[in-house]
Amino acid sequence: MSELPKDIMMPNDNPYALHRVKVLKVYQLTEKEKLFLFRFEDPGLAEKWTFRPGQFVQLTIPGVGEVPISICSSPIRRGFFELCIRKAGRVTTVVHRLKPGDTVLVRGPYGNGFPVDEWEGMDLLLIAAGLGTAPLRSVFLYAMDNRWKYGKVTFINTARYGKDLLFYRELEAMKDLAEAENVKIIQSVTRDPDWPGRHGRPQKFIPEANTDPRKTAIAICGPPRMYKSVFEALIEYGYKPENIYVTLERKMKCGIGKCGHCVAGTSTSWKYICKDGPVFGYFDIISTPGLLD
Ligand SMILES: Cc1cc2nc3c(=O)[nH]c(=O)nc-3n(C[C@H](O)[C@H](O)[C@H](O)COP(=O)(O)OP(=O)(O)OC[C@H]3O[C@@H](n4cnc5c(N)ncnc54)[C@H](O)[C@@H]3O)c2cc1C
Ligand code: FES
Repeated sequence: MSELPKDIMMPNDNPYALHRVKVLKVYQLTEKEKLFLFRFEDPGLAEKWTFRPGQFVQLTIPGVGEVPISICSSPIRRGFFELCIRKAGRVTTVVHRLKPGDTVLVRGPYGNGFPVDEWEGMDLLLIAAGLGTAPLRSVFLYAMDNRWKYGKVTFINTARYGKDLLFYRELEAMKDLAEAENVKIIQSVTRDPDWPGRHGRPQKFIPEANTDPRKTAIAICGPPRMYKSVFEALIEYGYKPENIYVTLERKMKCGIGKCGHCVAGTSTSWKYICKDGPVFGYFDIISTPGLLD
């Protein structure tokens, strides 16, 4: 990658400000997903820049384009952040060619993120399918870094095939230690008869969670078609709808509520996924037409 001009970074009070970040490491997680570790080039910014789990950045490849990507690391580690990126199309194909030492640009963080402060004192139940593991890994690592702030924690991580289970080895490696800390990790596949591990959709494992339905915050991320059955199972087991949150993806351009690309709802009541979300509560989801489309 060619070196970027130094003056491309704009003043920090500009919400569109672009920041130069260096690729430190690249890990091939699955056939289609890579994990990228980035570091801010400006040491002052590296000290200050932080985010809330569930927020996203716009990752820019000069001359190619930009893509919204959830931050999948914990905000505790200042100066560094990680993105788990699926090779999906034009921009992400170029992103997948990045090597350690290359410099790219980010703007953000954007969106609301999960209300992790409001959740202090509660149990946490995280339910992920497919690429949905990425934003929930940020919540999980944040809860591990702040273990004293939360009660029991269960992370249900699923994918269609074993080879596609994101962060499978990282989570398996944490399992023994996690159990001693009242943290339960359940990993499962839905369409892989040869997989030696567990089988079943996320809702199958809700009865196994170590969390107390009366005081549990639930974070869900996966393909929209899974939400209805997960909501039904949670409510059946006594989890409170007002404690259910999901994070959504949508085609975006500006990322800050200016262009209208991500709007869902009706002409009298609408939501910007980028600004009002991408994290929404259960009641927003069921009362806003098109939010899950
Ligand atoms: C808030 C938010 C958070 C997100 N977080 C993440 C994340 O953490 N990780 C992540 O990987 N993605 C994430 N995404 C999705 C990511 O932004 C898109 O995958 C990305 O914008 C695609 O850009 P692109 O230019 O590579 O693909 P585009 O060229 O725009 O293609 C978009 C879609 O078209 C289809 N497509 C395009 N080209 C081809 C092709 N050659 N063959 C088959 N299908 C094709 C694919 O289905 C693809 O998803 C997030 C999106 C949002 C809104
Ligand atoms: S992406 Fe522009 S308004 Fe949401």
